Amino acid sequence: MKQGFEKYIPFVPLKREKRSWPDRELKKAPIWCSVDLRDGNQALIDPMNVEEKLELFHTLVDIGVKEIEVGFPSASEVEFEFLRTLIDDGHVPDDVTLQVLVQARPHLITRTFEAIQGAKHVIFHFYNSTSTLQRKVVFHTDVAGVKKIAVDAAELIYEMAQPVIASGTDLRYEYSPESFMGTEMDAAAEICAAVLDALHADADHRVILNLPTTVENCMPNYFADEIEYFIETLPGRERAIISLHPHNDRGEGVATAELGLLAGADRVEATLFGNGERTGNVDMVTLALNLFTQGVDPELDFSHINAIRDVYERCTKMKVGPRQPYAGELVFTAFSGSHQDAINKGTQYMRQSGTAYWEIPYLPIDPADVGREYEPIVRINSQSGKGGAAFIMQQNFGYDLPKAMHPEFGHIVQAETERVGTELQPQRILELFQQNYIDATAPYQLIKHSFQETTDASDKSHVRFTGTLRHTDTVFEVSGEGNGPIDAFFNAIHGQKMDRFAFVDYKEHAVSDGSDSMAVAYIHLRDKDGKDVFGVGLDHNINLAPLRGILSAINRAWLARHHSS
Ligand code: KIV
Ligand code: ZN
Repeated sequence: MKQGFEKYIPFVPLKREKRSWPDRELKKAPIWCSVDLRDGNQALIDPMNVEEKLELFHTLVDIGVKEIEVGFPSASEVEFEFLRTLIDDGHVPDDVTLQVLVQARPHLITRTFEAIQGAKHVIFHFYNSTSTLQRKVVFHTDVAGVKKIAVDAAELIYEMAQPVIASGTDLRYEYSPESFMGTEMDAAAEICAAVLDALHADADHRVILNLPTTVENCMPNYFADEIEYFIETLPGRERAIISLHPHNDRGEGVATAELGLLAGADRVEATLFGNGERTGNVDMVTLALNLFTQGVDPELDFSHINAIRDVYERCTKMKVGPRQPYAGELVFTAFSGSHQDAINKGTQYMRQSGTAYWEIPYLPIDPADVGREYEPIVRINSQSGKGGAAFIMQQNFGYDLPKAMHPEFGHIVQAETERVGTELQPQRILELFQQNYIDATAPYQLIKHSFQETTDASDKSHVRFTGTLRHTDTVFEVSGEGNGPIDAFFNAIHGQKMDRFAFVDYKEHAVSDGSDSMAVAYIHLRDKDGKDVFGVGLDHNINLAPLRGILSAINRAWLARHHSS
């Protein structure tokens, strides 16, 4: 891309001496409005049918959205029919307001009034485009021209609304200066003030002024400056609810909404997972859960995000990407070894400290808060370090490998990921553990054994071990005594060829495999050259598991010697 950029006209930011939004904090949820069924729907390859729209509508209601733009009823029969179905079949809870969109054109406004008959709560949303670009290339008019379109529509709507209000409908108004972000701010304030006048807005009858980034064309800080300036300039701000309607062309929709709220907006129009025209509308899930993770109640319920994602994907036939904040398949997964390690330590810290706060590195939200607690956080590929494989062994299979063994097992797993070139499933990690440690039963094998335990006058236990071992084709007897089974066995093999190791440490615990409970023993030996050797023994008998572990270690060392020579 060496050439081409010269043809783009850069956004010209407002000149602001002072701005107060950077010093503010978001402390409460905005008024939410979903535009899934309108802006989201109009951007689909196959727009939703009535059944799909109904399913998504009920999902939005369950999430707790109280203002839902349900369509453009004057635009098509399906849209009209959907609105009628909602009203006539009683789908709308009393605390939910239906929002309908219409262009600022008389015949469409008339048709829209037909569509809303009988609704309890309605937001009548009309718009026309006001930006310099649209005025120049589409409407061939000036500010006065677009202001007239807006005011004429507002007057007509106000007049037509009176009998509807008299018949019992709670009807409110919303006006969007479409492409607001590309409009001169003084002109936008002038047009919107004229619309407020035409709609008789006052502090008790506030009109929603919805300020879209119809096509996102500037950085979020410039947009926040525009919003702050607009609010300062608008005559009678108390007559308006300031709403944002960010799109996401620069990938900054969420930041635009957040900074716009800091700049004084009260409301946000958004869609689930950011569906919408081109790159989409701003994502309601991300906005809400960003608030949640800052300790602010978002007043929306995303505690079953997977179920919401399923409905969304089924109805819209769109896919939620694996990296989509909070909802993507991979967003709670760590492949990197250092991340896995920190998550592991954070989990232990939370368990041990009993902290009331969420304090796990690399996990900005508790997966349980969005219903994702049963998904694997740690997954293993070639980027995973020593701790990850041990974490899988612990979480999935109940094997609590001693710390000293983590690097060795980590290398075994790493070599396998590099060999196959893909992620390893937990079952494969268990197989590697079994193959490398538990199945290390040659050349030394225990054929028969017995323990005799006696206690002396001072209550000290004394164990005598007698056993038959095999080394390839040679069978031999050993016996020894000690203060416990491990000691006795170690003394028994003293003087044999296997006697080249010092005992360093061991750890034993129970593992249950369904109904079957076994003892697992991890043995740490050191050979004469100072090299550490690990072995693992598994047996129903807790005395036998460590002996199998010792033989596993000795066999592994033997195999390593013979493979390297
Ligand atoms: O993006 C936009 O400007 C719109 C308006 C109709 C509000 O969707
Ligand atoms: Zn839009």
